[in-house]
Amino acid sequence: MNLPDTLNLPDYREQSPEVKAAFDRLKGRPEVIRVDHLVKDFPTDDGMRRILDDVSFSVHKREFMSIIGPSGCGKSTVIRIMACLEELTDGVILLDDKPVTEPGADRGMVFQKYTLFPWLTVKKNVMFGLEVAHMSNFDAERDALQWLDIVGLEPYADLYPAQLSGGMQQRVAIARALANKPKVLLMDEPFGALDAQTRAKMQAYLLQIWEKIDITIIFITHDLDEAVYLSDRVLVLKANPGKVQEMVEVPVPRPRGPEQFLSPQFLSTKIHLEELIHPSAEESKDDFKVVNMVATGDP
Ligand SMILES: Nc1ncnc2c1ncn2[C@@H]1O[C@H](COP(=O)(O)OP(=O)(O)OP(=O)(O)O)[C@@H](O)[C@H]1O
Ligand SMILES: [Mg+2]
Repeated sequence: MNLPDTLNLPDYREQSPEVKAAFDRLKGRPEVIRVDHLVKDFPTDDGMRRILDDVSFSVHKREFMSIIGPSGCGKSTVIRIMACLEELTDGVILLDDKPVTEPGADRGMVFQKYTLFPWLTVKKNVMFGLEVAHMSNFDAERDALQWLDIVGLEPYADLYPAQLSGGMQQRVAIARALANKPKVLLMDEPFGALDAQTRAKMQAYLLQIWEKIDITIIFITHDLDEAVYLSDRVLVLKANPGKVQEMVEVPVPRPRGPEQFLSPQFLSTKIHLEELIHPSAEESKDDFKVVNMVATGDP
């Protein structure tokens, strides 16, 4: 990153007393979800390939944690395993200290691709999970309208998904996931398909919702600004196989706003994440040498 030397940023590990106190409070809260020594192998043409190797981390109640890492490092696989949409090879996922073995309403998911049912109205989409859970039609409709109100879409309740913009459809997807009252919301690049302006609005919406309700969020993104802006902590994975590289505590105080994108704490954290994800040319050259030595057998 080409930043002037004169910028003189603080170390990303430096925390103001307020931020430090906020982290002490966060770490004092119970762990909602714990990923313990997770291993995942996928079959390939040449046999089994290790995708995730001994990945461990935990997320506290009401925490906002992002996961970043190079493409293919296994981010989606980690949260698909948490949701039990994928089996694990070894290790355990604990939700409130109990191993998870099947998908459940306690883990809501929002994906990058719009996943609303096109044949159902916005309201019926949000009611869907509630009706599957045998809530009466009257209660499901009331709850759905309340959630649509929270995401600012109550007036659109009777429209169909195709009549909404991409950002609005993602807000409905968030309302649908939250309506089931999950303990954890798992979000896989939910704003990845949106234009920059809509994306910025959605980030602000999500922070507002997260501040309003009792929810723990795990959020995958490729966008470092988004990770720093939204998160308490950022889990950085490295690839081949996917491993935990670092858990970074974001020293930017809350409440947050877009004006903080240029604050010294914000920039120093973003630069650190950038360095973890894209090591300097010098280090990459060393990696390349090691790979070549292994490949050729040269000392
Ligand atoms: N069902 C599957 N069968 C075989 N290999 C798979 C399967 N699903 C994922 N993989 C492989 O596992 C690795 C991790 O995939 P994953 O989708 O979790 O990565 P990611 O970090 O989410 O990538 P991206 O940032 O591109 O979304 C990739 O090499 C992928 O090809
Ligand atoms: Mg992915």
